[in-house]
Amino acid sequence: MIATIAIDSAACPVHIGPELLEGVRDFIDAELSDVDRILLIADGRVLEHHGARLRGFVGVPVHVLPSGEVAKSLRQLELALAACADEGLSRSSVIVSLGGGATSDLAGLTASLFKRGLRVVHIATSLLAQVDASIGGKTAINLPAGKNLAGTFHAPTAIFADTSILRTVSPLDWRAGLGEVVKTALIAGEAQLAFVEQNVDAILERDLDVVADLVRRCVEAKGAVVTEDPFEEGPRRVLNLGHTFAHAIEFAAGYTGIAHGVAVACGIGLALEAAQEIDLLEDADLPKRVNRLFGRLGLPRTILELRSPMRPLAPSVLMRAFEHDKKGRFGEPRFVLPKAVGRFDLSVKLDGELLEHLLR
Ligand SMILES: NC(=O)c1ccc[n+]([C@@H]2O[C@H](COP(=O)([O-])OP(=O)(O)OC[C@H]3O[C@@H](n4cnc5c(N)ncnc54)[C@H](O)[C@@H]3O)[C@@H](O)[C@H]2O)c1
Repeated sequence: MIATIAIDSAACPVHIGPELLEGVRDFIDAELSDVDRILLIADGRVLEHHGARLRGFVGVPVHVLPSGEVAKSLRQLELALAACADEGLSRSSVIVSLGGGATSDLAGLTASLFKRGLRVVHIATSLLAQVDASIGGKTAINLPAGKNLAGTFHAPTAIFADTSILRTVSPLDWRAGLGEVVKTALIAGEAQLAFVEQNVDAILERDLDVVADLVRRCVEAKGAVVTEDPFEEGPRRVLNLGHTFAHAIEFAAGYTGIAHGVAVACGIGLALEAAQEIDLLEDADLPKRVNRLFGRLGLPRTILELRSPMRPLAPSVLMRAFEHDKKGRFGEPRFVLPKAVGRFDLSVKLDGELLEHLLR
């Protein structure tokens, strides 16, 4: 099945279903005009598992990224840009990314910068990348001062969400993807949240028919938001639900050991608690309902569940990360807080005392 999303007036087909990897090269040859060269930027682990399935890529140069969040660094960006130069890419060239959200963020940023922009096709290989990260054209790397602090908007030309590739995703990374699935469901509305609740077992068992349906629903829901507001000037901010907290948690953890989607789940829990504390919630049962769902999906409900002696997630460090929140001014973070399923306040200022209470 193909869902089409339009970003900044350009239509981007999102191919969703099993066994799509084999057809990526045919798509490029048939659908993209004037392609002189291709560079594959791939997560090393994914390449090992699935590279052989990429038909027609023999002879295509490959730039291998380290697996995971470490790929989103200035050093890795530099290496990827150098690979573009070494392989003689021009503005007619295409970068193909193969990997999860870290890979699509780094490859997308590379594509947007090299010679001021070339086309990028994402092959999204984690659940999180299929339901969220590959969609919408945001690219980023992390800086020592904070998560995703350097990035661009650069819409992909096409996206492939091959559901059969998801079989090799680790249980932890599967759960992380479900953090963004719940976020998208809360934004999309009651029907999508009920779909997730009713299909928890099939989703956990990775029933590929249900998963394809889930990916399509998430792509369409996020697609609708980014089509309306491609550059996050207004309504797109809703997609940051839970993310100001999540980015602080990832920063405090040194970008290792806590997967992005797991941090997002915890961030949603904190956003619900904050909404409750300031009497913003119109649906008083929502926190209990989301907690129940997170429990069934194996996702954390509180920051305490993420703390360990090795990873204290000290409130003072978490507070420092808020300084760079991209939705507020320096030192004045703004939070997306829920009122009910599908209803949000997109720019809430929380006082320091309440924040410290939430992060205790
Ligand atoms: N640009 C956006 O709009 C956007 C949205 C959401 C998240 N993100 C970013 O996405 C990243 C998180 O994405 P992620 O969870 O995919 O992380 P990831 O790319 O780090 O992948 C997680 C792990 O799964 C492995 N993996 C991926 N696909 C696999 C497969 N098919 N089989 C086996 N292993 C596989 C990777 O090697 C890695 O170890 C974060 O950096 C986050 O900031 C970006």
